Amino acid sequence: MTATTPPPGYAFDNDNSHAAEQHRCLAAAYDGFTVRRLSRLPLGPGSRCLEVGAGGGSVARRLAARVAPAGSVLATDIKPGHVPPSPGLRVTVHDITADPLPENAFDVVHARLVLLHLPEREAVLHRLVRALRPGGWLQLDDFDETTYGPLIPVGGCTDAAAYRAYLDAKVRLLESAGVDLTWGRRAATVMHEAGLTGIDAEPDVQQWRAGSPGTALQVHNTRHLRDRFLAAGLTEGQLDAARRVMTHPDFLATSCLMYSVQGRKPE
Ligand SMILES: C[S@@+](CC[C@H](N)C(=O)[O-])C[C@H]1O[C@@H](n2cnc3c(N)ncnc32)[C@H](O)[C@@H]1O
Repeated sequence: MTATTPPPGYAFDNDNSHAAEQHRCLAAAYDGFTVRRLSRLPLGPGSRCLEVGAGGGSVARRLAARVAPAGSVLATDIKPGHVPPSPGLRVTVHDITADPLPENAFDVVHARLVLLHLPEREAVLHRLVRALRPGGWLQLDDFDETTYGPLIPVGGCTDAAAYRAYLDAKVRLLESAGVDLTWGRRAATVMHEAGLTGIDAEPDVQQWRAGSPGTALQVHNTRHLRDRFLAAGLTEGQLDAARRVMTHPDFLATSCLMYSVQGRKPE
């Protein structure tokens, strides 16, 4: 059978049977960082928030717990079926590139790992700024996909080539789907150019061991994106070899950088 290249577009899919694992790993790996960053913002009971591309809804739920019942969180996604109901949370099907969005409406707008996927990311960023009330804050948390560390050979885990083949194929695949690999480090500049002030960009980097959430996310990628990997020329054997490396008890590597960027809309 000849593999065909999938069309560009969001590479993952919330209808995929591996999507729940993706959301579980993202929450376990990054909610601590994201929520610590959000806690720097003037956000509390009565605030109105927008969570874009809510995925599994873990950040939206945490925001709702902080602002409800006087405040509220609108959680949007093209496929929001993984966001469970929660007090103070309104969930809606919404394409951030195209569907209407209220203006001057939110105290905090947050999106994690959404804009890097969207070819229209800069136009979307301007829409998000318009959605903020004057004085409101935008927080974008996104990867710099160019910064994965290589395998650090320790003990019996030495197949650096298998791990590298997986990482290289993944970033090529994401790029062909429309991901800006450098978006994490570019977001601050684009937010500044969009007129936001008080720009702050904090990086997060993690040690990845077998079983850590960031590693589990990578193992999940080999399954969720299997068809795209095969279409891009990787073999089942190479995917198996990558999984063997990442589940080896001695696996050790460093994550790519995630930048959490904050900026305020002038009064
Ligand atoms: C990588 S997941 C991240 C989920 C969540 N933000 C997190 O970090 O745990 C990206 C999410 O963005 C959603 N998404 C993709 N394109 C979108 C669009 N055009 N408008 C709104 N959401 C979109 C996907 O359905 C998915 O739930």
